[in-house]
Amino acid sequence: MSPILRNDTFLRACLRQPTDYTPLWLMRQAGRYLPEYRATRARAGSFMGLATNPAYATEVTLQPLERYALDAAILFSDILTVPDAMGLGLSFEAGEGPRFERPLRDEIAVAQLQVPDLERLRYVFDAVRSIRRALDGRVPLIGFSGSPWTLACYMVEGAGSDEYRHIKTMMYARPDLLHRILDINAQAVAAYLNAQIDAGAQAVMVFDSWGGVLAHDRFAPFSLDYTRRVVQALQREHEGRTVPCIVFTKGGGPWLESIAACGADVIGLDWTCSLADARRRTDDRVALQGNLDPAVLFAPPETVAAQARAVLDDFGSPARADGRLGGHVFNLGHGISQHTPPEHVQALVQAVHEHSRRRRR
Ligand code: CP3
Repeated sequence: MSPILRNDTFLRACLRQPTDYTPLWLMRQAGRYLPEYRATRARAGSFMGLATNPAYATEVTLQPLERYALDAAILFSDILTVPDAMGLGLSFEAGEGPRFERPLRDEIAVAQLQVPDLERLRYVFDAVRSIRRALDGRVPLIGFSGSPWTLACYMVEGAGSDEYRHIKTMMYARPDLLHRILDINAQAVAAYLNAQIDAGAQAVMVFDSWGGVLAHDRFAPFSLDYTRRVVQALQREHEGRTVPCIVFTKGGGPWLESIAACGADVIGLDWTCSLADARRRTDDRVALQGNLDPAVLFAPPETVAAQARAVLDDFGSPARADGRLGGHVFNLGHGISQHTPPEHVQALVQAVHEHSRRRRR
């Protein structure tokens, strides 16, 4: 039996149920801006050394929760574990970001690609179980995956990219090859998220970090259509509770209405669109997550607090005139920077909780 969840504010906001305050968590909340993360990473030897060891993954997942009153934990792992399990050979060079030894560049490589045996990702599911035990009902645990398109970007480029030259060449010259990759990724991601839910993830998030680099007429066929397939294949109940699903497309503002119709409970927004505007456009049929510019955290704590209040005020009251409710999960518009002073995060958490409680009265 799992222990009773003592703080379900995050899950309630995801499902547009009443809450006493606006819950928050931060993308990349466990990471290099925390000295204790850097110390554990040094002991583990490398990023993958951390991520593949459930004891280390549990330790770093809990580090930000020891410092701040965050309302959710997120599994410490990476989106690139899935293509690694497909045999592409992942490594993280110090200071360089991820790299694949065997990117998918030709017809033969694409033909050989297969949905991986989930046994190769067992360390992730073991980490989920270990983190749930360590959380002991404190806050819910979020599992995650990359979207089929965002994973394909790394699988074809072989690393991060500014231009997306290889994958966009494939998209325009050999769309059949890219559709095969996306089809396999969608199957793999759905199975991977369902296995995280089975292991104890209480919400799941799909990161479409590079959806926004697509041309206006390519986003639906090459990104959203495959994300929708994933969302529709997810189990939505576990341990007697609904498992909310969050879809975050960085740069997805122009397509908000169609993203909001993909079946997700929550849509993540970056800082380029206003939450008030997003509520109008989605008519509160989904909850919204976001969307403070992570660069705000470089400013002094008073500015951080003022900007956090501005995001809450932009969303407004969850209660609507017609009696329905909207839902807001406070977050950044993208991952926290490694150059963020940890004390500024304290000011953010405090401002979000205090101001949103005050607004409810
Ligand atoms: O949010 C969390 O605290 C959970 C952990 C998490 C990581 N990566 C840990 C990580 C999550 C949710 C991710 C997702 C991820 N990984 C995304 C989607 C989110 C986004 O930022 O758009 C992407 C695109 C990746 C791929 C990736 N992993 C890159 C580009 C890099 C290197 C660049 C960078 O920001 O460091 C990573 C490495 C990585 N993943 C680190 C962490 C904490 C830093 C590695 C280190 O310790 O050196």
